Formats: sequence, C-alpha cells, structure tokens
Amino acid sequence: MEVTKICCIGAGYVGGPTMAVIAQKCPHIQVTVVDLNEQRIKDWNDPDTNNIPIYEPGLSEIVAEARGRNLFFSTEVEKAIDEAQVIFISVNTPTKTYGKGKGMAADLKYIELCARQIAKVAKENKIVVEKSTLPVRTAEAIKSILDNTGNGVQFQILSNPEFLAEGTAVTDLLNPDRILIGGDTTPEGEAAINALVDVYANWVSKDKILTTNVWSSELSKLTANAFLAQRISSINAMSELCEKTGADVNEVAKAIGMDTRIGPKFLKASVGFGGSCFQKDILNLVYIAKSYGLNEVADYWEQVIIMNDHQKRRFSNKIVQTLYNTVADKKITFLGWAFKKDTNDTRESAAIYVADDLINEQAKISVYDPKVSRNKMLADLNYLESRSVEENNNAILAFDNPYDACKGSHAISILTEWDEFTAYDWQKIYDSMHKPAFLFDGRNILNAKELESIGFVYKGIGS
Ligand code: NAD
Ligand code: UGA
Repeated sequence: MEVTKICCIGAGYVGGPTMAVIAQKCPHIQVTVVDLNEQRIKDWNDPDTNNIPIYEPGLSEIVAEARGRNLFFSTEVEKAIDEAQVIFISVNTPTKTYGKGKGMAADLKYIELCARQIAKVAKENKIVVEKSTLPVRTAEAIKSILDNTGNGVQFQILSNPEFLAEGTAVTDLLNPDRILIGGDTTPEGEAAINALVDVYANWVSKDKILTTNVWSSELSKLTANAFLAQRISSINAMSELCEKTGADVNEVAKAIGMDTRIGPKFLKASVGFGGSCFQKDILNLVYIAKSYGLNEVADYWEQVIIMNDHQKRRFSNKIVQTLYNTVADKKITFLGWAFKKDTNDTRESAAIYVADDLINEQAKISVYDPKVSRNKMLADLNYLESRSVEENNNAILAFDNPYDACKGSHAISILTEWDEFTAYDWQKIYDSMHKPAFLFDGRNILNAKELESIGFVYKGIGS
C-alpha cells in the first residue's frame, strides 16, 4: 500500500515537529495535524512561522516550506481521521493524578479517547500508529476498542515510538539513530509495517529502520528513557561524592567517558534532569514492574527518580547554606527556566523546584530566560500549589535582559545551559551585585577560574 494521506492526532512537541519533517521529506504525502486545543492550532497556522507554538532550532523554516503545500494544522479531527490511511496518535500521556496508580501510572484517557474517535469515524481500513510513549501492551487495549465497534473496518496497530530530544528535535528527526516500528507478525501486520517503513525510507536509510514485535517496541521506548535518565542520576550521585572528596565530576566524567564501553554522552552532572518524559516514563516503568510483582525491578528504577529529586533539593539547600543560612528577602537571580537549552518547554524543569524551595525560604527570585515568559514561570509554580497565586506573583520577577535580572542580587544560579550565558560580560554583572557575589552553576557551563578571578564565589556541581 502506498501511503498518500496521514493524520496525526496531537499537535504538541512530538506531533508538530515530527509531522513537519515527514511533510518536508515526503511532498507526495498529505499530512494533517489535528488537535482539540484551538489556540495551539491557531498558533501553528500563524502567518509568521516565527510565532509557531514550539521553539525548536530549524523548525519554523520547515513549517514555512511545507505548510499549505502538504502540511496542514486543523481542529477538524474527525475529517482528518476519515480521510487518512495512517493515523498517528501523538497525544500526551502524563502521570495519573487520580485513582489507581496515582502519581505513577501513565494516564491513558487521551489515548482511549483517540481510539474511540477513530473507531467511530473510520469507514475504511486504517493503520493506527502509537507515536506517544505508552506502557507495554497498550496496543492490546487500543485494538480491543477499535475491534469492538462493529463497523467491520480492519485496523492494524503499529508502535513507532519517538526518540527526539527537545532543542535538537529537527536534527534528530532528519538524522535519527534509528526508527523503531513494532507490529503484528501476521501478513496484514507485516504489510502495515512495510507501509510505514516506506514513509521513513524517503529520508532514512533502511539499515536504520528496525522492525520488531509490538511489545518490544513499546517497551524499548520506556527502556531507552530509563537508561538515559539513569546515566544522569549516576553521574549526579558521583557529583555529591566529588564535592566531599576533592575529585572533580567533570574530570571523572571525561575519564570514564573515554572508555568506549561507557561512551562520553549523557554524563553531564547537573542540578537534575527535567523535561516532560524521563520522570513520567520511569514512574510508569516502576508501576508496570510492580503490577507484575517485580518489586526489585521496580525499586531499582525508582532510585533514579529518588536521586534526581535529591539532586534538585541539594542544590537549593546549598544556596541557602552558602548564603549564611538565610535567603529571606534576598534577591536570587535565575539564569534559565527552561528544562534545557534551545527549547521553550519548562515541564518538570529543575528551576521550578529550586525556585519553590527558595521561595519557601522567603527569597525573591528574579529570572531571565531567553524563551520563557513570566506567565509560564508563574503557571509552573502555581501548579505545585505550594502557596497562593498572589504569593508566587510577589516572589517572582522576570526580566527580558540578563544584566537587569542580576543587578542588586546576592547570588546567581544557572538553571539552564543556554549558550548565551557563557558570552556575558561577567565583570559588569559582578560589579552590579551585592558582595560577596555568589554564583551557583547548576550546569557547569561557566569557567570557574575566570569568575573567581573577577571576585565571584563560584560553586559548580561536583567540584
Ligand atoms: P504535548 O502535551 O506537547 O502535546 C499533546 C497534544 O495532544 C496537546 O496539544 C493536546 O491538546 C493534544 N490532545 C490530547 N488529547 C487529544 C485528543 N483526544 N484529540 C486531539 N488532540 C488531543 O505532548 P508531547 O510532548 O508532544 O508528547 C506526546 C507524547 O509523545 C507523550 O506520550 C510523550 O511521552 C511522547 N514523547 C515526547 C517527547 C518530547 O520531547 N516531548 C519525545 C518523545 C516522546
Ligand atoms: C529525552 C530523550 O533524550 C529523548 O530521546 C526522548 O525522546 C525524550 O526524552 C522523550 O521521550 O521525551 P528530552 O527530555 O527532550 O529528551 O531532553 P534530554 O536531552 O534527554 O534532556 C533531559 C534532561 O536531562 C534535561 O533537563 C537535561 O538538561 C538533562 N541532562 C541531559 C543532564 O542533566 N545531563 C546530561 O548529560 C544530559
């Protein structure tokens, strides 16, 4: 079967960029991305592609090229489902906040809604692709919903997890390490797998397109995120030991990373990992293991989260301790609020938790982030429900330039590794601050020696 019409349900951080790249690389395929969120679709359709709702280097150019040609953003979910041969489900799968599995399991209500809507609308056979990250064996539930609607349509369910990282989404999508497609081993399942392989083969070489059974594919996604996050918690655990022993975690990371079996990537000690997925996916893995009675497996992976929470708290404690055990009424400047550089996404950003701790100590936080608005910062803090909206409002000041954000402050914390931070006039910043001027580099991106020679009391992670 040659695919000519694709629909993607969910115009978020995955659906938007993924479909934009498919549309760019496959001009013969009509790609429609739908979402219930009208504002989000309106923003994707903004005539100026610099205003699209997701900031990713290179994305606005791709949208500018493909949008209106073979890439469309719409709120007409049913129409798009009806017309497409292949439907990607790319909706959010957050941690459950209620009921059984609260705080651990993935909330699959949006996935189920999609399945029901597809079942209701479809009049012809369709391939349904799980693009969202899902618990292993979710395809079974989707299939059961699709097959029990009684209109005789045949569905093939494929698992095609997404491995892009935010901030590098476009390059990750253009040059993926691999594309993973899981499907049934029946002739119909294999035909569906081949149809999707052919879509990706428009720009990805076939030796990078891996096909497996559905369950391996679903579980590989959770496993990949668990392994990546585990490396960060491992190096962060070592960072604390380094601080006690005079070892330097950057040197340790370099030394172990040169072992080709370990490799150099994902060994950067930090204030803790953030982002919408690592924590959610590991909690989900822990929940799945527990539900099979595999308590040792569950405890093993849960430790990655425990270590990450500890690292965030350790960072805010260090600020308080270093500032003579009180930050009450002191101005502390945050450089960076996003969970990593080159994204406007703040979900689960370490900055939120560090700010929350410091506001509990009655500090005043002034923030500069090149891509995050004050409203977003406040929304993130309000979501924690630690205090009233008004109190958060009074505790957070946002600036649109770093020099104003740092003026008159007692300490600066680097929470995001934005490249521009390394290019600032640090002497000028130092001169404008209270003395002694402290700098807590939660990302180890600045040059300690240079800053100390200016006069800063510099504290990196793990040294
Ligand atoms: P997101 O919240 O940015 O986007 C999801 C979108 O789906 C939202 O705009 C929401 O309005 C829409 N939606 C929800 N239910 C809908 C429905 N019934 N009909 C139409 N639209 C609906 O989420 P995201 O970051 O794009 O993540 C989506 C999935 O991809 C998650 O499972 C996540 O774990 C996974 N994932 C995310 C990333 C990432 O970098 N963000 C990377 C790989 C995988
Ligand atoms: C991560 C994975 O890298 C993607 O492969 C996956 O598709 C995605 O999750 C997902 O499933 O959502 P993402 O969270 O966007 O991508 O970004 P990462 O680059 O993995 O960074 C996650 C967090 O870890 C960030 O806060 C980052 O600053 C931190 N990090 C990363 C470190 O502290 N140290 C490192 O060495 C690397």
